[in-house]
Order: sequence, then structure tokens, then C-alpha cells
Amino acid sequence: MAKAIVQFPKGFLWGTATAAHQVEGNNTNNNWSAWEKEPGRIMHGQSAGVACDWWGGRWKEDLDRAAETGQNAHRFSVEWSRIQPEPGKWDENAIERYRTILRGMHDRNLRPMVTLHHFTDPLWLVEMGGWENPETPAFFAKYVEKVVASLKEYVTEWVTINEPNVYSYSGYVSGDFPPGKKDMGTAFSVMVNLVKGHALAYHGIHNVQPEAKVGLAINYRSFYPASKSPLDIFVAKTQSAIFNDLFPKAAVDGKVRFLFKTVTIPEAKNTQDFIGLNYYTRDMVSFDITKPNTLFGRSFYRPEAELSSTGFIANEPDGFTEAIKWANRFGYPIYITENGVEDEKDTLRPKYLAYHIHKLWHMVNFNSNIKGYFHWSLVDNFEWERGWTQRFGLWGLDTETQQRIRRGSVDFYAEICRQNGLSSEMIEKYCPDAIQNIFPD
Ligand code: BGC
Repeated sequence: MAKAIVQFPKGFLWGTATAAHQVEGNNTNNNWSAWEKEPGRIMHGQSAGVACDWWGGRWKEDLDRAAETGQNAHRFSVEWSRIQPEPGKWDENAIERYRTILRGMHDRNLRPMVTLHHFTDPLWLVEMGGWENPETPAFFAKYVEKVVASLKEYVTEWVTINEPNVYSYSGYVSGDFPPGKKDMGTAFSVMVNLVKGHALAYHGIHNVQPEAKVGLAINYRSFYPASKSPLDIFVAKTQSAIFNDLFPKAAVDGKVRFLFKTVTIPEAKNTQDFIGLNYYTRDMVSFDITKPNTLFGRSFYRPEAELSSTGFIANEPDGFTEAIKWANRFGYPIYITENGVEDEKDTLRPKYLAYHIHKLWHMVNFNSNIKGYFHWSLVDNFEWERGWTQRFGLWGLDTETQQRIRRGSVDFYAEICRQNGLSSEMIEKYCPDAIQNIFPD
């Protein structure tokens, strides 16, 4: 018997999350496959290649792993460019493949959550201007209706767009994602179109499947003022208002607010049935006149924070509490649609997991209506502009041989899922140095 245990409500979903381009392999008809061919875009010139070979059938073995280790849910995405390879053409074989994968999830007692757009766009859409084109929201809605009509017998929870905030920031401000632009004005019109696309998709899904539950997955980043200076506080607030609030608030009242501009999109009002929350880390933010692109904010991690192996993520569980409190204010059920850390050697992950699950439990007990947690990720996968340099998987991946490498966190997460909770025994076993913080004497 464990000395102490924190327990989650019955029926809580425990899963992992993946995304089409990152795991499927051989996607050749989307913006990322083109981007990966351009010199200098991806670290070390890497590309997704066969990725985790899910399209070749290895989804089966990975979902076996998920189910055998106590998970009861899985979030994944479908690839628009496979389903609609050309504007007027649907690929029924691709749709059938997704139906097979969904049946495979149900056979393994994994409840699916499906994301309809996870960073990738078909090449034909890009040629028409991508999300800069005011017609794109309608194209998106058409694709979404087709997918939902075809898959609805297996799926109730849909995420329309994954991290529209990251998509617009990385594609149109920092330029790390395709199309690599650095232009605030364009970023804003893309944001408006993403809100419209989400809204049309929301209504389209409910027409096709009235009982569906639909949300956005937002990457919540905690922007913490580096000092008490009013300028630091102002910049942190402004960054948070745009990065964190813009999309979910627009889906509440139909207003897209960006600095001094507001655009009203009436059809976006009340278009969320849940909040999908992706949380990774917290930034310290200080005012810096030389950084107009980040709204005059300079970000850095707390010097004493523990960092992931490439320094990409600081282990900041208090930011997770802040994120859940923020999500809770919208008054909808919440799913943690992503949370995790890149850690090839699995030295930080157990601790990161323990602290974040503990904060999650705390918030569940403070009346947050949290329905489930999806760890990012099941297996190492293609990390966008960072290529294969970052390893977020519970299982590692040898990209040469397709062999999976069982990391210690697999067993830790399995115990959490099976017990529907976190115990002092688990912490003593997997990350003893966290015990005093989580279960103090
Ligand atoms: C994205 C994932 C990505 C993860 C880790 C999230 O922003 O939704 O696709 O792999 O972060 O970088």
C-alpha cells in the first residue's frame, strides 16, 4: 500500500497525442513536405521521411503499446492533403484508412479525439494563398464536413485547429514555419481567417453530427513578468492577450482583438464545447525596445529552472496551474490535449510528469472540469523545424530501423493510467527527488 495517493475521478481519460505529419511518413502533398526540401529550413536538413511509419501500418504496434500500458484514449490528426489531394477530389482510400485506424482504437479501448488541422495544409491550398486567402475558411469547412460525415460513427470529440496561435506566430511572425513570413499585418489576417475557419467548421460539424463535442487546442504559454516594473508587466500581459486569449475569446464572443484592432465575426460566437489546452512551459518576460516582433518582449527561462535536454522547455509546473485556471474561466470542460517534454535520455521526463500530474490533480479538486490528459507524445516523432533533434516520446524511435525504445517513463505513465492517480510509491520508484515537493513528510 502506498503511503499517499492522489486519485482522479472515475472515467478520466489518460492518453497520448500525435499528429499526422509527425508520425505517418511519406506525406508528399502538403506545405511541410515542400518546406523540408528548402535548404536551411529544418535543423540539419532533416525531413519527416517515413516518420514513425504509421501510414505503412505501424500505428498498430504503437497503439498496442498505448493500450497495453493502461492508456484509454488517443488524440491524433487526419491529414487534409491525403483526404483532399486536389480541390475537387476526395481520396476514399485515405478516408478508409483513417476509418481502419479508428476501428483499431476502439478495438483497443482507446477513445479517439481527432484533430482536423494540425499545422499542415495541402499544396493546392498553399498555391491559392493558404490561410491568407479569405476563401480558405470555406474550403476548410467543406473538408471538415466530409471528414466528419465519414468518421462520425467512431468519433465524438473533434479539435478543429491545433494551436492556431502557434500556426500564425510561427508561419507569419517568427518565420520558422511555412510560409516563413515575418509580417504582423499578414499574421493578423491569417488569425481572422483561422477564427472564421474554426467557426464554419464548428457549425458544419454540428450539422452533420449534432452530438459532437468541438473545440480548439490552444498552446497556453505562461508569460511571467521578469520584474515588478510596469513595462515588464505590460508586455507580459499584452503577449498573453494575443498569444493565449485571442482565439478562445473570439470563439466566445465573435470578436478578434489584436492590439488596437477588433474584427467581429458573428458566426464565431459560442463555438466551443470544450477547451483543448496544450501546456509545455513558462517564460519570464522583460521589456525590450529592440524586439517589435514580439511586442517588445524578451523572453528567457528562470535561471534556476530545470531545462530539457536541448534547452527548449523549462520544467515550470506552476505555469500549468496558471494555464488550467485560465482555461477554467471560460466555463467549458477542459481536456489537456498536450503536455510533455523533450528528453532523449528520460532524465527529466519522470519528474516533469510527476509535477504536472500533481498540479493537474490539484486543479481537478478545485472544481476544474477536466476530462482527460494526453501526454505529448506516444513515440518520438518529427518535431517540425527542429526535425529529429528533439525527442518527446514515451517510447524512443530509431529512425534508421524503426525500432521503438522503451523509456522508463513508459512504466511510470502506465502506473498513473492504471491507478487513475499518482502515489508516493510511484514517485519513490521513478523520481525520488520529487517526493518532498509532492508528498512532504
Ligand atoms: C505541437 C506539436 C509539437 C509539440 C512539441 C506543440 O506545439 O502541437 O505538434 O510536436 O508542440 O514541440
